[in-house]
Amino acid sequence: HVLDIDPNAASKGTYEFYMLKEIDEQPGVMRRLSQDYLDENGTPIVDPEIVEAASKADRIYIFAAGTSYHAGLVGKELFEKYTGIPTEVGYASEAGYHFPIMSKNPFFIFLSQSGETADSRVVLKEANKRGITSLTMTNVQGSTLSREADFTMLLKAGPEIAVASTKAYTAQIALQAILVKAVGEKLGKQEAKDFDLKHQLALAAEGIQEIVDGKEKFDELAKKYLIDSRNAFYIGRGVDHAVALEGALKLKEVSYIQTEGFAAAELKHGTISLIENGTPVIALINDPVTAELTRGNIQEVASRGASVITIVGKEFAKEGDDIVLPSLNYYLSPLLTVVPAQLLAYYASKDKGLDVDKPRNLAKSVTVE
Ligand code: G6P
Repeated sequence: HVLDIDPNAASKGTYEFYMLKEIDEQPGVMRRLSQDYLDENGTPIVDPEIVEAASKADRIYIFAAGTSYHAGLVGKELFEKYTGIPTEVGYASEAGYHFPIMSKNPFFIFLSQSGETADSRVVLKEANKRGITSLTMTNVQGSTLSREADFTMLLKAGPEIAVASTKAYTAQIALQAILVKAVGEKLGKQEAKDFDLKHQLALAAEGIQEIVDGKEKFDELAKKYLIDSRNAFYIGRGVDHAVALEGALKLKEVSYIQTEGFAAAELKHGTISLIENGTPVIALINDPVTAELTRGNIQEVASRGASVITIVGKEFAKEGDDIVLPSLNYYLSPLLTVVPAQLLAYYASKDKGLDVDKPRNLAKSVTVE
């Protein structure tokens, strides 16, 4: 029941593993999405029927699994900021059998790299039964979720072969932002009109390029802090919390280092008892509102012996930070923040001598519930 992807569909070229190739492809994916979905003036080119349906919604529901779910968490922030439409994100596997109470006029978005995830199909079938309008954002044209939903928007990330998803995640965030801008503009929201997405996606492409050009640094950090550790933590607030969850998933799925992502302040409400001498804690700081509070949480774990790696947006950087990210709109900052997390996961796995592209027990696409 597992969908096998033809390994010849994309060539590894000189890369040892697809995962690194796909991480490196992300600047190109950002440019392609910008080119195909935004005109020269930065106006979104999105099927007007999709924009119409989404802008009529009183609530948006995003359903997904795994990494796609984490992209949905960022999407929620984007939708609420730029369209003002309340947005919920759910695990498809949960919603299928515990269907959320619906608002009067819901609009469903399914995020799925493969377009084949069985858990999401269950929710979509129920949505169709109830006549709820739905959109699938997927990387695979003609996939099941694409055929069964009312609308499709393609991620255009190119074939993703490594089991651990990378470029599909960043594509999902960028594509959600494009829809968000279109819907916000349709609703006459000033924030959406002022949202210079074309420029921001260009900055994202440049920023990702800058990060991947310095990839050796992540190899060093992985060797120094991660590969001999049995556990690790990611912490962050706001959209950094969403990236903390994705960063933790990435690291644990390919390196087998048990890793948890936390809203930065939640660690002290229990899990801080797991911090020992040398426990790696990767801290993300991009949120202007909470940057100083997260610094406080770093102090809390450092004083208990944690080895802290900081990944920080330029505006918030302080001396001693490990990774300083180029500037980007806060709501899009996950496009940059996730890349160091992807690279740390990649190198931790590779440096442990593991099969980076095919972690044990995992499948690229899960067509069973
Ligand atoms: C599988 C993969 C994950 C992926 C999830 C959702 O579990 O191993 O990497 O995030 O399915 O896949 P989808 O194709 O729906 O995005």
